[in-house]
Amino acid sequence: MRDLDPAATSASDLAAMRVDYGDPLVIPAEETDLDETWVAGGWEPLLRGWIEQARAVGVAEPNAMVLATVSLTGPAPRPVARTVLCKGLSPEGVTFYTNYDSAKGTQLAADPYAAASFVWPALARQVHVRGVTERVSAEVTAAYWAARPRESRLGAWASRQSRPVASRAELDRVLAETTARFADVDDIPVPPFWGGYLLRPDEVEFWQGRRGRLHNRIVVRIDGQTTTVERLQP
Ligand SMILES: Cc1cc2nc3c(=O)[nH]c(=O)nc-3n(C[C@H](O)[C@H](O)[C@H](O)COP(=O)(O)O)c2cc1C
Repeated sequence: MRDLDPAATSASDLAAMRVDYGDPLVIPAEETDLDETWVAGGWEPLLRGWIEQARAVGVAEPNAMVLATVSLTGPAPRPVARTVLCKGLSPEGVTFYTNYDSAKGTQLAADPYAAASFVWPALARQVHVRGVTERVSAEVTAAYWAARPRESRLGAWASRQSRPVASRAELDRVLAETTARFADVDDIPVPPFWGGYLLRPDEVEFWQGRRGRLHNRIVVRIDGQTTTVERLQP
């Protein structure tokens, strides 16, 4: 990595990077245009299907989504984005797990609105989920925690996520301390500062790349019991 030539990533090369979404290597030739009928059964089965198809074609972390929250600590609100993994999906919303005291946790405590974007360039697809978040119940967090490997549990206990740390050595020292602390504990408990959020969408947008850049965009809007579906211009 250190040998990378900075000139190899010059702005002119970036500008020249272009994928033709009509290329059958990107979109299967038989794929038809995304339209309103694709969400006739609701947004959740389509999102689930797209994640599953991304997995099937070998996309790494097909359930990764970029989560945007709002920071209210400065003179004006600012967006903050980072990747998390979608670990649950239901008609109610998408679930992810994190440290409640992290930057994102603090931001969600101050302003619960968030947006999450999935992108699978290999399939020329993306999905945006926007809405309000809430913490999942302790039972839901516990059920997911039970499936986490010991190493991940220790990591969750050892990291005061988003806080500064003096060095890698200091991080390793805290992990060693945490490992020793739980040495005799078979079932490491959920840290009180860790758990899940459910992002309940009021808007879900499906995007499908298309030859000629006139892409397909279908947005599902949910307002209480009322759902509307609309096509947007690309
Ligand atoms: C592919 C990928 C998946 C990630 N999944 C999670 C996750 O599920 N939960 C989490 O807290 N951080 C996850 N991270 C790390 C976050 O992107 C982020 O660095 C961390 O949560 C701290 O964010 P914050 O300081 O904005 O709160 C992931 C990073 C990557 C690259």
